[in-house]
Amino acid sequence: MPSMSCTRKLIIAIDGPAGAGKSTTARRVAERLGYLYIDTGAMYRAVTLAALRAGIPMEEGALAQLLPQLRLELHLSPEGQRTLLNGEDVTEQLRDPEVTRWVSLVSSFPAVRRFLVEQQRRLGSQGGVVMDGRDIGTVVFPNADVKVFLTASLPVRAQRRYHELRQLGIAVTEEEVAAELARRDRLDSHRSESPLSCAPDAVVIDTTGLTIEEQTERVLELVRQKCNTAAELGVHSSREPRVSGDAHGSHR
Ligand code: DC
Repeated sequence: MPSMSCTRKLIIAIDGPAGAGKSTTARRVAERLGYLYIDTGAMYRAVTLAALRAGIPMEEGALAQLLPQLRLELHLSPEGQRTLLNGEDVTEQLRDPEVTRWVSLVSSFPAVRRFLVEQQRRLGSQGGVVMDGRDIGTVVFPNADVKVFLTASLPVRAQRRYHELRQLGIAVTEEEVAAELARRDRLDSHRSESPLSCAPDAVVIDTTGLTIEEQTERVLELVRQKCNTAAELGVHSSREPRVSGDAHGSHR
């Protein structure tokens, strides 16, 4: 691997629709760089799970009252991120079809987004992170060092997600998965608050015909280019503004 001459730790934003390969690619890129991987979708899923458990109406007012009672922690493990909700590891429950059904609605509410975006900024403020989601390069870190927008055709995304769910023991058909992805694409792209969109300065990578290794390499190549440019320009830290303060989330 060509050398990475970065003297500072970068923020790498990976956005795109569900099933485009974001989380696997982001995790591998983070591993190769020794960075933290942060799956922001899991944070929206954890809030959704908490709302379902509390049995509250899925409305902004009711959610806004629930949010101050929620403590999210993100822990790294060799298998990836574990998500803790008020001290309980809920990682497996986050993939529950009921959570998937409601998460696009829950994540469309400005109060929920404000609550989570603030935590995401704190988690990434020191750099050395690969963060994946829908609005990382547009809203959470508009000054991210590297921005990638991963996409793939709907049939390919559905096939990948179908295999993931089957591995988790969740009984679904490929048609159901495709319909659910198409529904979430529509909701995530058309909500008024930070919709899924490609930042103008993001590099689009279509993963339809790519292996995970190839996707990972393409992102790492962008990181190398960034590092080399920064070294040539003598740039040390150009990322502003910084966000400070303690995060609710933590990594170990
Ligand atoms: O990546 P995922 O499928 O786990 O994300 C679950 C939902 O959360 C997705 O349908 C949209 C929402 N989401 C979001 O609005 N913003 C993010 N940064 C990440 C996820």
